[in-house]
Amino acid sequence: MLRSHRCYCVLCLALGLTLALAFFLLAPPPASAQPPKKGPVSFINDVAPIFKENCFACHDAKKRKGKLDLTTYEGLRKGGSRELDLVTPGKPDESLILDMLNATDKGRMPPPETGDALPKAKIAVIEQWIKEGARLDNGLTPKADLLRELRVRWVPPVPAPAYPHAVPITALAFTPDGKKVVAGGNHELTVWNVADGKLDKRVRTRAERAYAMLFLPDGKLAVAGGRPGQEGDVRIYNLDAAPAKTEVGVTILDGVNDKNVLVKHLLESDDSILCLDASADGKKLVCGGCDRLVNVFDLSGGYANAKLEQTIENHADWVFGVALAPDRQHLLTGSRDKTAKVWDLKTKESVLTFPAHQNTVYAVAVAKDGKTGFSAGEDNQLRQWNTSGEARQLRAMAHSKAVLRMTHNPKQPLLASCSSDQTVRIWNEQSGSAVRTLSGHTDWIYSVAFSADGTLVAAGAHNGEVRVWKVADGTLVKAFNATPGYAATAEAPKK
Ligand code: HEC
Repeated sequence: MLRSHRCYCVLCLALGLTLALAFFLLAPPPASAQPPKKGPVSFINDVAPIFKENCFACHDAKKRKGKLDLTTYEGLRKGGSRELDLVTPGKPDESLILDMLNATDKGRMPPPETGDALPKAKIAVIEQWIKEGARLDNGLTPKADLLRELRVRWVPPVPAPAYPHAVPITALAFTPDGKKVVAGGNHELTVWNVADGKLDKRVRTRAERAYAMLFLPDGKLAVAGGRPGQEGDVRIYNLDAAPAKTEVGVTILDGVNDKNVLVKHLLESDDSILCLDASADGKKLVCGGCDRLVNVFDLSGGYANAKLEQTIENHADWVFGVALAPDRQHLLTGSRDKTAKVWDLKTKESVLTFPAHQNTVYAVAVAKDGKTGFSAGEDNQLRQWNTSGEARQLRAMAHSKAVLRMTHNPKQPLLASCSSDQTVRIWNEQSGSAVRTLSGHTDWIYSVAFSADGTLVAAGAHNGEVRVWKVADGTLVKAFNATPGYAATAEAPKK
């Protein structure tokens, strides 16, 4: 049933991307415009969101269709190639922009061939703003980047006590003691007991989705995520902070406002951050995302003194995977540009490109000795290759569908991979042999994690289900749905 509303995102549909499609599933429909309020219309709060939703796709600083950039107030007042005023303050009847929004011929904006006219209510907001003098809000400069200003003003919603739909588990991590599993929810992280599959803690986050998470050696949790197409972030949380409150036995932490919970806001970007890795001592942290960039942070001076050490632009498309080699000098990356690459952090040069997947690379990992790398992707393969010299492939290991994530066992030379073929596979990283296949999931598996002692492996699927197995013999330890309130909802119609 969930499949039927797999994606709202035009971009994904256009690109026909499997994983991206699934990742973006729960993007909320765009907020509808407010009808004109009693008070004066605010440019930033009322008008700019309409431009952002309906116009920025063609009229941002890069595309500038018709030489018009609407991402600043200045750009709107300057106009485009017609070299006419688009807005005449106080005079809606003389404002070209309204003529174009209301037009019924092919000169209408947005252009008729690309979609519907703006709803009347939205046009009325712009009209009212012009009538009131087309003023810029106090405290904003004409050059202010409206995307950034809107982001600053955006307030994340408080997660619902019970979700109406199962939440795809796009990121997972065991707590350092191995007793709990942290899962990415909707604008929150949820913490579940492995022993009984019960919800233990909810941590509110600004990010709508978590795409990667890992515990640092000091027990803090680094999380990469974002709001698809809107913003991305890397934040560090203390899940052991004193709780704000408890609700029916569940601890509630506020990772948005409570500085004891949100320890550090490391990175902010214009689109989701998708992957994360850290050195064993936690002093170097690396992330990559939809902006094609890989950022390397130095945390050796503590979180307060975190430094952005290097920003790497080595891929032509989204970066889905990063893995720091044990020498801390080499960095493996994988991308939607169909390649995996090795980067030298010292010389700041690309060392090699591994092109064999010929399709999206979703994950990368490095062998314990650092000499070989692994990459996995849409071609169903997990490929092992030399990380120096020529990018020679040593072997390929197969799932029957796309391999979406991969992770290393912290204690043993084992890799775990998860796939849209609904299995998790454990591989011996030295021989490439399949140690075992863990089945039971009934949907695409987006996330996989080992416990810190290496004895447990957990995987989370599109349908919200998390399964935890013993690595040694593949016995199922626990299966539960990591959607808050999910069981309760499912049982509701019984009476
Ligand atoms: C799918 C792309 C697309 C979208 C979306 C779009 N436009 Fe345009 N717009 C264009 C193109 C292409 C032109 C240039 C052709 C023209 O001037 O008629 C243009 C021209 C304009 C112009 C004329 C600029 C000048 O001085 O010549 C205005 C004003 C304008 N758009 C406003 C808007 C507004 C407001 C929105 C959102 C409600 C919007 N457009 C959405 C593609 C788009």
